[in-house]
Amino acid sequence: MNYFDDKNVNLEALKKKAFNLRWAEVGDGIIPLTAADMDFPCAPSIKKALLDYVDEGYFSYTPKLGLKEFNQSFANYVKNKKNEIIKEKNILAVDSAARAMFIIAKAFLKEGDEMIVFDPCDFLFREACISAGATPISYPAVLDVKNKRMDLSRLEDYINENTKMIGLCNPHNPYGLVYSEEELDYIMRLCEKHDLLIMNDEIWSDIIYPDAEFKSIYCLGNKRCNRVLSVFGFSKSFGLAGLRIGCVYTNDDEKFTRLIDASEVMSTAGGATSLSQVAAIAAMDKTEEWMKAFIAHITKNRDFAVAYIQKEIPLLMAYKPQATFLLYVDITKTNMSGEAFVAYLREKVKLSIVPGGHQYFGDESEGHVRICLATSEGILKEGLSRLKKGVEMLCEERGLKNE
Ligand SMILES: Cc1ncc(COP(=O)(O)O)c(C=O)c1O
Repeated sequence: MNYFDDKNVNLEALKKKAFNLRWAEVGDGIIPLTAADMDFPCAPSIKKALLDYVDEGYFSYTPKLGLKEFNQSFANYVKNKKNEIIKEKNILAVDSAARAMFIIAKAFLKEGDEMIVFDPCDFLFREACISAGATPISYPAVLDVKNKRMDLSRLEDYINENTKMIGLCNPHNPYGLVYSEEELDYIMRLCEKHDLLIMNDEIWSDIIYPDAEFKSIYCLGNKRCNRVLSVFGFSKSFGLAGLRIGCVYTNDDEKFTRLIDASEVMSTAGGATSLSQVAAIAAMDKTEEWMKAFIAHITKNRDFAVAYIQKEIPLLMAYKPQATFLLYVDITKTNMSGEAFVAYLREKVKLSIVPGGHQYFGDESEGHVRICLATSEGILKEGLSRLKKGVEMLCEERGLKNE
């Protein structure tokens, strides 16, 4: 069965259900290659697990620390797929990866503390830090395009006596980079030297292209990882964003207790719904074939998009991601801000994409945009041909050359 055929994108449903800059929020005729959310329905095994659960008609309270099966599935999943050995009892299901990040910040940061946040990077690192009353310090994470590496050489300059935590987005959104073991070791050594915690977000760790390999920071050994507070979520790999399900985990028992306190699950004010946990369990246990097909599909999409931009829209420069279904594109040769370029495309060619700049990825992402690849081949091709048309119109208007 081909789960990722063009005909499997149900635009009627998406128009009603896909928010956050996507189909339900854009005007008629606009193609949104925006928020990192797929245009395909979830795996049939997830749907079935939900239907079975619903069929019994009980929506009783779940255990405060989450369903036992969730923890079992998660511990197995990360062990088998990512070589992470995580204590089953130290995994807490919560309502999204975003929540997991806020819980970590609340548990370990306070006013006066600083957290190093890579720039560019997903805005949630910054926002989690701010929500705890602490101060995010941007580290300009310049990309060495040729070597596909992020420049970490100045990281230590950003550490002072107030620094308490470093945010690690592995794989990195929006660059789509995976970190090497050496880089993880380098970051860990700095954290050991300065006694810093690590907010380790692995939400993208399932979406790895065949030409890359994901290394979790846990590859450095559990002993060194007691300063690591980790985040996972089911919105990206499994198309479950609206179910708001993720988890927070750490192998350090004392730190896990602090996470539980901060999560408010013991008062029932926090926690994940039964349905969301059931969906997540099926996602971890029963989607292997579906996931393989998804990776094959987005690999085709990635390769097409990168080659297309290189050949047809040379004014722009797309970074070829090693992970994530996101394409980070340099638009500096247009001489426009990300916001202005995105507004231009929306108006002239009915294409919506995500602008770089402070709001979503940090100041260093100005002059860039991000395109979501998790759609059908047909929609992606149409979106890219609109991008080309938009750039050609822009060149004509402003006397630029598409080269
Ligand atoms: C790096 C990163 N972390 C966290 C999230 C948030 O995921 P969730 O929907 O589970 O809150 C995202 C979503 O784009 C993300 O890219």
